[in-house]
Amino acid sequence: MDLMDKVLSWAKRRGFVYSGSEIYGGLANSWDFGPLGTELKNNIRAEWWRVFVRQRADMLGIDAALIMNSKVWGASGHLEDFNDPLVEDKKTHERYRLDHLLQEAGVDVGGMSLEQMTAKLKEMKLKSPKGNELMEPKMFNMMFKTHLGPVADEDNAVYLRPETAQAMFVNFKNILDTNRVRLPFGIAQVGKSFRNEITPGNFIFRTREFEQMEIEYFCRENEWEDHFKYWLDEMHKWLQHCGIDKKHVHDYETPKDDLAHYSKRTIDIEYDFPFGKKELYGLAYRTDYDLRQHMEHSGQDLSYTDPETNEKIIPHVIEPSFGLERTLLVALLESYQEEKVKDGTRVVAKFPRWMSPVKVAVFPLLSNDEKLVEKAKKIAEELRADYVVQYDDGGAIGRRYRRHDEIGTPLCITVDHDTLKDDTVTIRDRDSMEQIRIKAEMLSDTLGKFYKGEDFASLGK
Ligand code: GAP
Repeated sequence: MDLMDKVLSWAKRRGFVYSGSEIYGGLANSWDFGPLGTELKNNIRAEWWRVFVRQRADMLGIDAALIMNSKVWGASGHLEDFNDPLVEDKKTHERYRLDHLLQEAGVDVGGMSLEQMTAKLKEMKLKSPKGNELMEPKMFNMMFKTHLGPVADEDNAVYLRPETAQAMFVNFKNILDTNRVRLPFGIAQVGKSFRNEITPGNFIFRTREFEQMEIEYFCRENEWEDHFKYWLDEMHKWLQHCGIDKKHVHDYETPKDDLAHYSKRTIDIEYDFPFGKKELYGLAYRTDYDLRQHMEHSGQDLSYTDPETNEKIIPHVIEPSFGLERTLLVALLESYQEEKVKDGTRVVAKFPRWMSPVKVAVFPLLSNDEKLVEKAKKIAEELRADYVVQYDDGGAIGRRYRRHDEIGTPLCITVDHDTLKDDTVTIRDRDSMEQIRIKAEMLSDTLGKFYKGEDFASLGK
């Protein structure tokens, strides 16, 4: 089994991720996050917010409506340009990305127009992956369209947002008017985005609904290169904080003729997924494109007045953009490990401590000893105020350790007969499998130190 298959079956078996609408036969490429997946996602989202918003004096967070005025997408260019080249199998009517088919055939599609790609397809006489003739390629807009209110006509057509970014530009004036901000500063948002992808797939890598964690960082034009470099470093630091091995991460400089319509420079941060090297995050220099477009289309003044010189400028923008599900997928891939131990192999999820979905497991040594059960349940209940805790009395202790290793629980506490005599418990560390014995009354303090980063070995001293 390759790593992707192992991670898929582990994620489903332990309730990180379920197939969407499963009892109805599922819905292609839709996924539901189970209890552990939800905790994991919440932890990543909250940590991102702490690192990039709460801890910074130069960042403001917003949470905008998902459905925006359609004029937003006219101004941003999405109505016209947010297209992928699509080609359909004449027989099966399955649809494919034309650029992907050409790439798989060894063609460098960088900068090619639809017409050029179509000509190449014909010249190479390419067939669909099923071996059938293909229809004439066309462009396909990836935004999901719906209608506000009961009447479905063009006047009330709206779109589910394909990126969270535009809300930051649309609210730029609100932010300036209601906050004391000075350049450079950023606006951040986390939330769902929707894209009607032609070929979603690879588990949660490419889906039609996903969450983005985005920053629009506003600066002076002559400073953009410094900020670009700074944000690239910050993105790499975040990946290290997520426990991602540097060796699996690469910067890809997008060639000039492949840049999105709004970008003057883009670096994709790529990751060595088991299905190939693919984009994990993106960093773009969006210039003043978006603010200018929204000024023109809304008729509003979106300039910034320098408080010292009174000069009016349109700020330029650096955009670090992070996908939440891709972060989660990489965290699953990186943390999954099989380790040889005395009695066989243990599967252990080595999530960073802050990311682990369950922070502490509490066991009574014996499940049929009322006093042990009562004490263990009491400890679990007390810790629940501050941590995600699981009480577990199923099977032998060794099996309970394995179960929690497999979901990445960093610490397991066991209540045994000595606990009833001297009120001490054992704490076992997931990574070293070492155990220490401490007073139960010290648990809160000890866990606090551990989750602040103290070494396990030093805790019992
Ligand atoms: N505002 C810029 C923007 O949206 P993007 O490269 O299209 O740029 C940014 O998307 C990030 O969003 C990607 O690097 C990826 O992490 C995530 N992402 C994009 N499309 C996705 C999809 N279909 N499924 C899951 N994540 C996706």
